[in-house]
Amino acid sequence: MAPAAGLWADDPAAGSPEHTSVGSYTPTVSTLPPGWAEANRRMWDERAAVHVRSGYYDVAAFKAGRPAVEPFEVDELGPLGGLRLAHLQCHLGLDTMDLVRMHPGLEAVGLDFSAPAIEHAAALAAELELDGRARFVHGTVEGAASVLGAGSFDVVYTGKGALCWLPDLRRWANECAGLLRPGGWLYVCEFHPVADCLDRSEPRVSCDYFDTGAIALDDPGSYADRDAPTEHNLRYEWHHPLPQLFDAILGAGLELRFFHEWDHTLFNQLAWLERGDDGRYRWPGGPGGGRLPLMYSLKAQKPEAEPSGARP
Ligand SMILES: C[S@@+](CC[C@H](N)C(=O)[O-])C[C@H]1O[C@@H](n2cnc3c(N)ncnc32)[C@H](O)[C@@H]1O
Repeated sequence: MAPAAGLWADDPAAGSPEHTSVGSYTPTVSTLPPGWAEANRRMWDERAAVHVRSGYYDVAAFKAGRPAVEPFEVDELGPLGGLRLAHLQCHLGLDTMDLVRMHPGLEAVGLDFSAPAIEHAAALAAELELDGRARFVHGTVEGAASVLGAGSFDVVYTGKGALCWLPDLRRWANECAGLLRPGGWLYVCEFHPVADCLDRSEPRVSCDYFDTGAIALDDPGSYADRDAPTEHNLRYEWHHPLPQLFDAILGAGLELRFFHEWDHTLFNQLAWLERGDDGRYRWPGGPGGGRLPLMYSLKAQKPEAEPSGARP
């Protein structure tokens, strides 16, 4: 995620106010930029075709068996055979299909609001003969439970660049909880909000961790292909401090089972990170050098019996 290029909190032309109150930090009152969802969808529709051809996603290698899900995710997810899994913001569906490929008996449905991304995912599933257990559905996170079926999943899986596209984590968490059967669980693996605040060119803090206003960005290419010529570049992202994440998950009635932080990230998010032999990016070592987390993962479970106090 790049640094903030425009905050909408004071824009009188912007949409209705969104206010999040979360205890341990001072939230900004932000507003939704008009047209934010349509701008993001246009941007993602164009990026789907770029990403299918990119070295980052390396679809040819994926077809030949390259994993897409991180080893620590596989460990934390545990055995998934015989379960039903919903993958929110599945993009090209590589993670969805990788999980299906490695867990016989797992049935997965990927959901994304980009029609071209869903078409690529469905075509690849058919080519790999995984389409019996990996389906792909066009829809928004905000309508996920009604599109995919409320209470019909054992697992909701999401992340790796998903939550920054959502302005309202409470709404997201309520959809996740709505998708799960009682006893089912949510797994999230995401880029850490602390990393959002680090300068791209040197290891120092250059953005405000506590600012949750919409971030307007407008530059070509993408994380998967920086030089790709692209036309639809305007997009809106949101930085979610951890208390906002926990507030949303706990407020949706889910119980936190674990929260882990990781010292590495998956791409050259910040120019000064060092690429390891495993292709992951880490803090530079050396005397006096400290580290901050670059990714996190969590599991949160829906209680077997619905608590009476869950937010509607
Ligand atoms: C970075 S990708 C997700 C990362 C995925 N793990 C991957 O690397 O393939 C973000 C995805 O979110 C989707 N997206 C963004 N906002 C959405 C929304 N409100 N509802 C559904 N999908 C959305 C985009 O179309 C895009 O495919």
